[in-house]
Amino acid sequence: MKKITLLLAGFILAFAPVKADEGMWLPMFVKRLNYVDMQKQGLQLTPEEIYSVNNSSLKDAIVRLGRGFCTGEIISDQGLMLTNHHCGFGVIQENSTEENNYLDNGFWAMKKSDELPAGFSVSFLVRMEDVSEAVNAELNEEMTLEERNKAIKMISDSLEKEAKGDTEYDVEVKSFYDGNEFYLFVYETFPDVRLVGAPPSSIGKFGGDTDNWMWPRHTGDFTLFRVYADKDNKPAAYSEDNKPYTPKHSLPVSLKGVKEGDFSMIFGYPGSTDRYLTSAGIKYELETRQPSYVKLRRQVLDIYEQEMAKSDKVRLQYASKHASISNYWKYFKGQSAGLKRLKVYDKKKATEDQLAAWIAKDEARKELYAGVLEGFETGYANMTEVNKIAIYLNEAIFRTEAVRYSRQFSSLKKLLEGDDEEATKAEIEKLTSGLDAHYKDYSKVIDQQVFAAMLQAYHEDIDASNQPEAIKSMISKYKGDYKKLAADAFAKTIFADKEKTAAFLEKPSAKKIDKDPIYMVMKEVFNHYMDNVRPTIIAENEGLSRSKRLFAKGLREMNSDKVYAPDANSTMRFTYGQIKEYYPRDAVKYDLVTTAEGILEKEDATNHEFVVPEKLKTLIQNKDYGQYADENGDLIVNFISNNDITGGNSGSPMINGNGELIGTAFDGNWEAMSGDIAFETELQRTIGVDIRYTLFIIDKYAGAGHLIEEMNLVK
Ligand code: ARG
Repeated sequence: MKKITLLLAGFILAFAPVKADEGMWLPMFVKRLNYVDMQKQGLQLTPEEIYSVNNSSLKDAIVRLGRGFCTGEIISDQGLMLTNHHCGFGVIQENSTEENNYLDNGFWAMKKSDELPAGFSVSFLVRMEDVSEAVNAELNEEMTLEERNKAIKMISDSLEKEAKGDTEYDVEVKSFYDGNEFYLFVYETFPDVRLVGAPPSSIGKFGGDTDNWMWPRHTGDFTLFRVYADKDNKPAAYSEDNKPYTPKHSLPVSLKGVKEGDFSMIFGYPGSTDRYLTSAGIKYELETRQPSYVKLRRQVLDIYEQEMAKSDKVRLQYASKHASISNYWKYFKGQSAGLKRLKVYDKKKATEDQLAAWIAKDEARKELYAGVLEGFETGYANMTEVNKIAIYLNEAIFRTEAVRYSRQFSSLKKLLEGDDEEATKAEIEKLTSGLDAHYKDYSKVIDQQVFAAMLQAYHEDIDASNQPEAIKSMISKYKGDYKKLAADAFAKTIFADKEKTAAFLEKPSAKKIDKDPIYMVMKEVFNHYMDNVRPTIIAENEGLSRSKRLFAKGLREMNSDKVYAPDANSTMRFTYGQIKEYYPRDAVKYDLVTTAEGILEKEDATNHEFVVPEKLKTLIQNKDYGQYADENGDLIVNFISNNDITGGNSGSPMINGNGELIGTAFDGNWEAMSGDIAFETELQRTIGVDIRYTLFIIDKYAGAGHLIEEMNLVK
């Protein structure tokens, strides 16, 4: 009897299903790791209905946008794809002019021929495979980082080639658990994607930056696209002859709504998390990295906002740039606050102490893990200043668009100094053809101010010994008058006026590039970085990356009864849990849904973030919700679940226990902004648009009922 119990205990331990709301899991392991728990929580599907290589399954309705900037889901058998408004924002913005202002007024293709090329591709996952054994067979602990990376690259290339065979698929091998495991992914990528419908920003971005990263929320953050294929339903570049893609699977759309405790699952492409970050890393984040981002981005946003308020043209030009800078300005601000409030440093430290004790108990461990924890301390200490310079290069120096733009002219300069006329001509043609696109959304007035402010921040915050002499002497020549310096530079440069750039391309000379003040700043800071900073980063990374890899390995070995999910890395994951309310602070409870009435409560005609379109207002006042109302006659706008997501998951489907679409994930909540580093079960929530609100806007607000008819509604 005793023996059997022991055996049984061993069995249960080995196959112990994970219990989690934390975790971005790999679909290929669903049966082995998660299925039992998912069933307990309310899942009705079989593992094969979630992930199958041979038969159609949920995964076939999920797409990666571009290289993973967002996620989308297929919701009709004509390739109709749903994602977030903030994921389509760039496309909507690029297609907007003051005459055709889709950003402010929305865009609805009433027939397929009106749909607009989106300019990004989408990828479907064909399959994934664990290739850890093959890769690890090529690696050993004696290798330097460079040798290790080379070996990984070589074996990955050959595995990728083998998996690709004679198909058109894209194949990539990615590292997991900080370089301990390796999985291979096969994708089919469709380049012809078109914009189908987008609500006005007053719906799609309702609440603006004030509400961003916050609950309670009332945002219709959705946009519709369509995937096109050639006549054989295969990927093809844009062509009028292409036809809507027939997917292997499309998600049925549920009108049933959500209630507390309902099962909820999210599929998508989370970009990156840092859950194995150690205390030294937290310190670096809190003292150096995050404050730099917050400070520099706030300064830039202030300049943008001031100019956007003055001119409608500039407001449309900078809408997308502003949104992306602002999103992570607020993110880092919230993350720093969260890391401190939730005492993440102390928690990490405690884990490291446990690991140190575990290592000390065993001779073999002492040898393998020698110096691992110390490696974090020295690594971060030696990298703080160089990393800061790298941040200032990107966030300050290259934030000036003219500076970034001037870098595109480096190749031309080299060519002009040589004698390859053919190549020179081609380069000139390339730059000339890019003129319109670059200057369409460019404001010299903004850029000159950004240049002055960012150069000052760079000069004041970076140690003088780490600044190029030419930059220091330029600033000292102006005695710190950055405004004057910027005005002179912008009066002279050829990289801030379309006419000047065009005239230069008519009669290009290397000397002219060399003498350009904006190009000079770019060249000096960039070369200084390449020559003096990057080598240190690479050298220090040697120890740090070993520490990271062995820390993740040790942690998983020490707690071998716990199943750790790997960090997000833009590969397909699913996360499951429940629709769940929460307590943001003492004595305050947040409900799990918001209703359309709340939109009118927030309405403020004097604040562009809270304007409510007249038509929407009338519909809400008349409670004219049609079949999209809940059982009380209310219209649910957004809801929350305890699913574990991060950036890249934007646009991901929220799916009920029957595999039906209930919403579109679009954000996280303020109280758990440290979630990418430490998941807080009681606090962390995903915010989604209730699919019924999306359908209501498409149908009742936009009058695009023909799109609803494409879908498979479940009542
Ligand atoms: N915080 C959201 C995310 O990162 C983006 C929301 C966009 N809305 C906005 N007001 N910027 O997925």
